[in-house]
Amino acid sequence: MKIFVTGGAGFIGKWLIRCLPTDAEIVIVDSIDEQVHKSQSEFAPEQLERALCIKADIRDQDAYASAMEGSDVIVHLASQTGTGQSMYEISKYIQHNVDGTAKLLEVISKLLHKPRRIVLTSSRAVYGEGAFTNGSSVQYSKGRNLEDLQSGKWEIYDNGQELSPLPMKEDYLPNPTSIYGLTKLWQEQLISNYAQNQNIDYTIFRLQNVYGPEQELRNPYTGIIGIFTSLITQKGEVELFEDGKMTRDFVYVKDVAMALKAAIYYQNDLSTIINVGSGKATSLLELVNLIANVAGKDLKINYSGRFRVGDIRHAVADMSRYVDVFSEFQPTSLEEGMVSYLKWYFEQDPLSHGALIESLAEMEKKKLLLTSK
Ligand SMILES: NC(=O)c1ccc[n+]([C@@H]2O[C@H](COP(=O)([O-])OP(=O)(O)OC[C@H]3O[C@@H](n4cnc5c(N)ncnc54)[C@H](O)[C@@H]3O)[C@@H](O)[C@H]2O)c1
Repeated sequence: MKIFVTGGAGFIGKWLIRCLPTDAEIVIVDSIDEQVHKSQSEFAPEQLERALCIKADIRDQDAYASAMEGSDVIVHLASQTGTGQSMYEISKYIQHNVDGTAKLLEVISKLLHKPRRIVLTSSRAVYGEGAFTNGSSVQYSKGRNLEDLQSGKWEIYDNGQELSPLPMKEDYLPNPTSIYGLTKLWQEQLISNYAQNQNIDYTIFRLQNVYGPEQELRNPYTGIIGIFTSLITQKGEVELFEDGKMTRDFVYVKDVAMALKAAIYYQNDLSTIINVGSGKATSLLELVNLIANVAGKDLKINYSGRFRVGDIRHAVADMSRYVDVFSEFQPTSLEEGMVSYLKWYFEQDPLSHGALIESLAEMEKKKLLLTSK
């Protein structure tokens, strides 16, 4: 099996490469983007030993076209991933995520032997605010309105009635509220459209919030668990946006790597979209209390009333399609995952909060981080 992985030097990529069988031939193409790779400017020795590593942007087709020949499966992980940042560095997100995917598909189209399958890591961001119910029917929110948010009305309402969030199913309507989400939807559509026309199988995974050891701590645009952990362990105080009751589905990185591996080796045709999450909603308030608990720290919570424009209120995956396809689903519990994460975290150099403060100031300046009245 020859497996070609874009973005393989990133957080999820490292875990994936590690769990692939030793008889698999692996090629990685990764630009080692400096926003993500703060502590290294080259591939890690572990990756150089295991794979043919090409340091290149996926838009630079000549850098990797010949190395892709003979690949059985292409795993496309390379992306810019900061939701907040995507709201002002718009063309950067279009260039890397959309044009990058287009360029990758052009390289595939020129191969002498086409791959059997393309696997994409898309995101739950394509759902946007998601689906809700008033008890009788499924309703979609167009996104929360600014006036409501400014007056501290955080939930989703229909004619004054508060709606309950539904676990997201893959066939619910996509409706991204961020540029990042839009680019992930375009990646999905580019790949499914191209693959169907070329008779290539594909798997699109919509990942929820992935966390775990080795997530870059110095990238202030992603990884909420890293940010909370450093604030809790160093300052004993954390700011929660809105009222802290927004929910997310936190999925442990090893579970994501195992899902990717299952898709790479899946024998039958797939050509479908599949959620990858834990299937459990956790509020950010519960999350920070859990982190403080596992770290053995006292915690002061600062409810600042600030909110990010484009943030969604609730997210949880419906995992039934995953179970139908792969039969097995035994997600790592958040408690178990946090124990492993904190063990790793305490072995790292303490984080300076300068970059985080700067990124929030930048968002405030651009009116993407506001305060309710
Ligand atoms: N981590 C999450 O919570 C999460 C959630 C949903 C979806 N995803 C998706 O999973 C994938 C991997 O995410 P991750 O958390 O490992 O991110 P990451 O930033 O750690 O890894 C992405 C890798 O892609 C590389 N890269 C970026 N642009 C590139 C380009 N133009 N050419 C070549 N390489 C490039 C970066 O150097 C990096 O190594 C992404 O597609 C992301 O959208 C991640």
